[in-house]
Amino acid sequence: MKITKICCIGAGYVGGPTMAVIAQKCPHIQVTVVDLNEQRIADWNDPNPENIPIYEPGLSEIVSEARGRNLFFSTDVDKAIDEAQMIFISVNTPTKTYGKGKGMAADLKFIELCARQIARVAKQNKIVVEKSTLPVRTAEAIKSILDNTGNGVQFQILSNPEFLAEGTAVTDLLNPDRILIGGDTTPEGQEAIQALVDVYANWVNIDKILTTNVWSSELSKLTANAFLAQRISSINAMSELCEKTGADVNEVARAIGMDSRIGPKFLKASVGFGGSCFQKDILNLVYIAKSYGLNEVADYWEQVIIMNDHQKRRFSNKIVQTLYNTVADKKITFLGWAFKKDTNDTRESAAIYVADDLINEQAKISVYDPKVSRNKMLSDLNYLETRIEAENSNALNVFDNAYEACKNSHAIAVLTEWDEFTTYDWKKIYDSMHKPAFVFDGRNILNGKELESIGFVYNGIGS
Ligand code: NAD
Ligand code: UGA
Repeated sequence: MKITKICCIGAGYVGGPTMAVIAQKCPHIQVTVVDLNEQRIADWNDPNPENIPIYEPGLSEIVSEARGRNLFFSTDVDKAIDEAQMIFISVNTPTKTYGKGKGMAADLKFIELCARQIARVAKQNKIVVEKSTLPVRTAEAIKSILDNTGNGVQFQILSNPEFLAEGTAVTDLLNPDRILIGGDTTPEGQEAIQALVDVYANWVNIDKILTTNVWSSELSKLTANAFLAQRISSINAMSELCEKTGADVNEVARAIGMDSRIGPKFLKASVGFGGSCFQKDILNLVYIAKSYGLNEVADYWEQVIIMNDHQKRRFSNKIVQTLYNTVADKKITFLGWAFKKDTNDTRESAAIYVADDLINEQAKISVYDPKVSRNKMLSDLNYLETRIEAENSNALNVFDNAYEACKNSHAIAVLTEWDEFTTYDWKKIYDSMHKPAFVFDGRNILNGKELESIGFVYNGIGS
């Protein structure tokens, strides 16, 4: 089957960039991205491509090239489903906040709604592609809904998980390490797989397109995220031991990373991983393992999350202890709020939890982040429901300039590794602060020796 019309349900961090790149690389395919969120769609359609709702380096250029040509953003979900031969589901699959599996399992209500809508609207055969990250065997549930509530049309379900990382989404999409496509082993399943392979083959070398059965594909996505997060928790665990023993975690990471079996990537000790997926996907993996009675498997992976929570708490405790066991009414400046550099996404950012701990200690938090608004920071804090909103608002001061944010503060905490932080005039910042002036570098991006020579008391992670 030759695909000429694609629909993607969900115009978020995955749906938006992924479809923009497909549209750019496949001008012969009409790509329509739909979402229930009217504001989000309006933002994607903003005449100024700089105002699209997701910040990713290189994305606005691709959107401005393809939008209106073969890339469309719309709230008319039914129409896009009806017209497309292939439908990607890229909706959110957050951790459940209620009922069975609360706090662990993935909430699949948005996935189910999509399946029901597709079943109701489709009049011709469709290929439905799971782009969202899903528990293994979700395709079974989707197929059951489609086959039992539809209009008698044939559906093929493919699993095609997305491996992009935020901040590098465009380069990851243009040069993926691999494309993974899982489908049925039946002739119809293989035909559907081929149709999707043909889409990617417009820009991805065929050697990098891996096809598997559906369950392997679904489980590989959870496994990949679990392995990546595990490396961070492993190096973070060593960072605490380094601090006790005089070893330097950056040196340890370098030493082990040169072993080609270990490799150098994802060994950067930090205040803890954030982002919408690592925690959610590991909790989901733990829940799945438990539901099969595999308690040792579940406990093994849960430790990755326990270590990450510990690392965030350890960071805020260290700030309090170092500042003579009290931060009440002290101004602490956060450089960065996003969960990593080059994104405006703050979901599960370590900054939120560190701020929450410090506000509990009655600190005043000043923040500078080049891409995150005060409203977003406040809503992140309010979401925790630790205290009333007015208290969060009182404790939080947001600046659009780092030098202003640092003025008169007692300590600086680096929560995001934005490149610009390394280019600052640190002498000027030091002169504007209370003395002794402290830097808690939660990302190990600054030159500690240089800061100490200026007069700062410097604390990195694991050194
Ligand atoms: P997101 O919250 O940014 O976007 C999801 C969008 O889906 C929202 O705009 C929401 O309004 C829309 N939506 C929900 N239900 C809908 C419905 N029934 N009809 C139409 N629109 C609907 O989420 P995201 O970060 O793009 O993640 C989507 C999925 O991709 C998740 O499963 C996630 O685990 C996975 N994933 C995310 C990343 C990432 O970097 N963010 C990377 C790989 C995989
Ligand atoms: C991660 C994976 O890297 C992607 O492959 C995956 O597609 C995605 O999750 C997903 O499923 O959502 P992302 O969360 O966007 O991507 O960003 P990462 O680069 O993985 O960083 C996650 C967190 O780990 C960040 O807070 C980052 O600062 C932290 N990190 C990363 C470290 O603390 N140390 C490292 O060495 C690497």
